[in-house]
Amino acid sequence: MAEKNDSWVLMVTAQTPTNIAVIKYWGKRDENLILPINDSISVTLDPAHLCTTTTVAVSPAFTQDRMWLNGKEISLSGGRYQNCLREIRSRANDVEDEKKGIKITKKDWEKLHLHIASYNNFPTAAGLASSAAGFACLVFSLAKLMNAKEDNGQLSAIARQGSGSACRSLYGGFVKWIMGKEENGSDSIAAQLVDEKHWDELVILIAVVSSRQKETSSTSGMRETVETSPLIQHRALEVVPKRIIQMEEAIRNRDFPTFTCLTCSDSNQFHAVCLDTSPPIFYMNDTSHRIISCVEKWNRSEGTPQVAYTFDAGPNAVLIARNRKAATLLLQRLLFYFPPESGANLNSYVVGDKSILKDAGIQDMKDVESLCPPPEVKDNIPAQKYKGDVSYFICTRPGRGPVLLTEESQSLLNPETGLPK
Ligand code: DP6
Repeated sequence: MAEKNDSWVLMVTAQTPTNIAVIKYWGKRDENLILPINDSISVTLDPAHLCTTTTVAVSPAFTQDRMWLNGKEISLSGGRYQNCLREIRSRANDVEDEKKGIKITKKDWEKLHLHIASYNNFPTAAGLASSAAGFACLVFSLAKLMNAKEDNGQLSAIARQGSGSACRSLYGGFVKWIMGKEENGSDSIAAQLVDEKHWDELVILIAVVSSRQKETSSTSGMRETVETSPLIQHRALEVVPKRIIQMEEAIRNRDFPTFTCLTCSDSNQFHAVCLDTSPPIFYMNDTSHRIISCVEKWNRSEGTPQVAYTFDAGPNAVLIARNRKAATLLLQRLLFYFPPESGANLNSYVVGDKSILKDAGIQDMKDVESLCPPPEVKDNIPAQKYKGDVSYFICTRPGRGPVLLTEESQSLLNPETGLPK
């Protein structure tokens, strides 16, 4: 290392979105490499509302690899972190920063240690795929720091080894994770189907559902499904391949009715294979089921679908509305059935793109209280309300892929010490 002294710190900051699958990944054929038993398709969510920011730094003064998540130091000793770090280090190249007088050769990276700080702009505990954005951001930012020449598709095969769904966060818009055939996983990569501008009418509403229950992690849940469910093989071999073809076409044609039918059916089948697991896994709760009923009833009454729903390994609902008008009507329905606890503040009950709230004519709690029951409910049955069953709502939309953040003020590590700011 031809630097003048040992005190330099070189760093890179990046921001990476999270994603929600509309055709689900559930089941691995290789646990260590994280290779799936079927293709999957996701939509990337706008990083303005849900994303991970990661700063990675290198310095000869660092004595070990260290990582901080949301300000707290965490261990990097897990196999998934180690696999990602090893893979990305092996793709490092020479790096030179003339202004700072730093020169790092390809070989130096094996000995140099890293500091990593990562921050989610949404509560990690909410169960909103934070590991997908997190591993994608880790791999993307390290690739830039180390001057790796790999494109995002090749980087996705590394992020995949951190968490399967992370590979789809390397792109914006709609993304397909191609399961691949190779034993070494080299062809199990993500590819963009269309970018975020292709279908920008869509509005995404997430209902963060209150839950006291500790859920089975995706990793162990899908292992148990593969080991015990007779239905999963049928899903992976017969159902998903057909759905993938139909979904790609629906997305390209912006065919909302087909998109909705496939998205809802696939979410429901994923939860069905969870139920078919021994012992059965329940990710959805009564609130999730009520949200499904509300959407199904409304879609039916309109004659053509207005909203698609999908649920991951938890009770939260991700609702994809065909356009702003539908999103407005959806939000009115959801706030009618699931008003916040008394005394709550509307501003923290609906977060993200609040303009939908304005469109819905809802400015304060009085407006929420005076919402009428949706017309599709029968007049003779009084509509029941479920106050407090939803923690809060996030309004968002399809979004872009990873970006570098170049302003020093955006970095999470101190440029002199390489420690969290
Ligand atoms: C239900 O990617 O979290 O969200 O690969 O074991 O880390 P690991 O699992 P993970 O599983 C995600 C499952 C899902 C569906 C999906 O995102 O496709």
